[in-house]
Amino acid sequence: MADFEHVFDAPPEGAAADWTIPQNWDAYTEVEHQTWDTLYARQMEVLPGRACEAFLRGLEALDLNTGGIPDFAAMNAKLKALTGWTVVCVPGLVPDDVFFDHLANRRFVSGQFIRKPDQLDYLQEPDIFHDVFGHVPMLTDPDFAAYMEAYGKGGQRAASLGLLPNLARLYWYTVEFGLMREAGGLRIYGAGIVSSATESVFALEAPSPNRIGFDLERVMRTLYRIDDFQQVYFVIDSLDQLKRDTLQDFGPIYQRLAGAGTIAVEEIVPGDEVITRGTQTYAARGGRFAA
Ligand code: PHE
Ligand code: FE
Repeated sequence: MADFEHVFDAPPEGAAADWTIPQNWDAYTEVEHQTWDTLYARQMEVLPGRACEAFLRGLEALDLNTGGIPDFAAMNAKLKALTGWTVVCVPGLVPDDVFFDHLANRRFVSGQFIRKPDQLDYLQEPDIFHDVFGHVPMLTDPDFAAYMEAYGKGGQRAASLGLLPNLARLYWYTVEFGLMREAGGLRIYGAGIVSSATESVFALEAPSPNRIGFDLERVMRTLYRIDDFQQVYFVIDSLDQLKRDTLQDFGPIYQRLAGAGTIAVEEIVPGDEVITRGTQTYAARGGRFAA
């Protein structure tokens, strides 16, 4: 998930000045490696035909299914050759400026731990499965790779203007929960969806959520929920569109946003390109926390 909140003010003991820690791959237990294999197999039951081409291609190029948690040394050699990105481990949530600085330098930060066998479906903090399986395949795509680097630089600017909430919404509705149009229909590219078996089906097939054409300013005004399936997904036409829309100077947009209000998760507003008008029944019934 997006690391926009932090717990510590200084790197904890054992972490470097840039907050990174060694992956320490040799220390993973057999059970932890099996958890990766179980989660990987489960996702592959649902992702063909649902994940976008760039994701599936990246997954294959990185070879993340050699048995157990990937060793970053081997994975990074492949990733770096493709787009110049590498993945580094951090001890948990890191301060915004640290997060943005890593992205701006094509380093993606990942948790080191993997979820426990009794938490396969739901966890509060992103683990190495979400961070690596969910995020890293997309970093093999040149357009997405450029977008993420630009996002890191844009984060530094937005922070200096006090506009991080706006930029965080963009991350949420693209990097974490984005959908894309492809020749075969809607496909997933967001890491929060592709790393969840249940949301992968829900995001594309459930009648409940709204699905709306991506509009940069609209997205930056839209609130989001972190506790359950999304009530709205935004759909891009291509990764090239995402890159082009976001590489423009946000100066004028930030000026307009200062006077614009926020939009609630289930709201449809004038100008929306409504792809699916959701019933919102899942959320109305109380979602996953329903009795
Ligand atoms: N273009 C944005 C700006 O001028 C930076 C940015 C790029 C933000 C990509 C998010 C994603 O601030
Ligand atoms: Fe994430």
